[in-house]
Amino acid sequence: MRLRMMLVAGARPNFMKVAPIWHAAQRRNDIDVILVHTGQHYDPNMSDVFFTELGLPRPDEFLGVGSGTHAEQTAKVMLAFEPVLHKHEPDVVVVVGDVNSTLACALVAVKLGIRVAHVEAGLRSEDRSMPEEINRVATDAISDYLFTSSRDADANLLREGIPAERIFFVGNVMVDTLLAHREQAIQKSTILNRLGMGEGEYAVMTLHRPSNVDSEDALQRMVEIILLTQQRLPVVFPLHPRTRTRLGERVEHLTNAGVTLTEPLGYLDFLRLMCSARVVLTDSGGIQEETTVLGIPCLTLRENTERPVTLTQGTNHLVGTKPEHVISVLDWVLSQEASKRYTVPEGWDGYAAQRIVEILMRLLQ
Ligand code: UD1
Repeated sequence: MRLRMMLVAGARPNFMKVAPIWHAAQRRNDIDVILVHTGQHYDPNMSDVFFTELGLPRPDEFLGVGSGTHAEQTAKVMLAFEPVLHKHEPDVVVVVGDVNSTLACALVAVKLGIRVAHVEAGLRSEDRSMPEEINRVATDAISDYLFTSSRDADANLLREGIPAERIFFVGNVMVDTLLAHREQAIQKSTILNRLGMGEGEYAVMTLHRPSNVDSEDALQRMVEIILLTQQRLPVVFPLHPRTRTRLGERVEHLTNAGVTLTEPLGYLDFLRLMCSARVVLTDSGGIQEETTVLGIPCLTLRENTERPVTLTQGTNHLVGTKPEHVISVLDWVLSQEASKRYTVPEGWDGYAAQRIVEILMRLLQ
């Protein structure tokens, strides 16, 4: 029997997780893959560039939902996704990560009696004010197959009462993509020349979490952190659309202080930039994992993380958002001759997607 697998992507951090699963399925001759893009992210530099660089085809279905409140966005994805399921009748729907599209599609599929697999299941920040935490908890509760990227995720799921036979530790699909593209990024990307940055001489900054950019106070603290960092080494700051809007006139202020602001970067350029950074400051989830694999020190500007393995084994430091504390850790990191000792977590080896596809074939055939 051929397996009909529907693979769903919606927002930027989904594309690098979906890509290796699509490629692993394509390498077999017993799976038909139907690729769905919900259109949660739609700007060319938040979406198209990732499809091109990661070798993904045009999606079979593009739902074009765009932006909106959480309710609007989630509801629009649900309404648009239901007829797509009726049309294609997949055996399994694979959702990844923790964005609104992840939960919306899982919910629609499960109610139509279609099996749902959640990739990157079980991560928990234990902070329910984060929209992603709600998406994670809810998606995991209704999914049939939970594919985890770290052992702590297995423990979280078991604690929430998920039966052990639904949980499969497979490793990290995002790392599959990173390892598959690292050499290409180093060979091909011209980003360092374009920005005039030298190896190991700059910091990379990314910010987009509502808790860091939506309130005036929080944003002011972030601006202070950026300016204090820039006094120590040049800062490259690719701006997420949300952050650019919130910063408003402060964009000019940062530029005048010497900060290099860019549009959101494509996958290869951003990977290249991380590879040679002295340090990365971020509130992203995925970047905490990518820097751990690359061995680049990372300062996470949050009070919690759903990825504790990057702290215990990796190069990540959870530093909160108080400028004095962030900068004291930054100074400590910059003063070290070598970066923090680290080991790459189990299963972050480039084969996670292959393991997922093999398990699904075994379960569903
Ligand atoms: C979403 C995810 C978040 C992920 C992030 C990565 C949820 C709840 N959040 O947050 O987990 O880390 O993506 O970027 O799903 N916009 C554009 N162009 C685009 C996309 C968005 O201009 O292509 C603007 C929107 O108009 C909106 C803002 O950016 O004002 C935020 O977009 P939205 O999709 O609501 O969530 P993100 O903050 O990107």
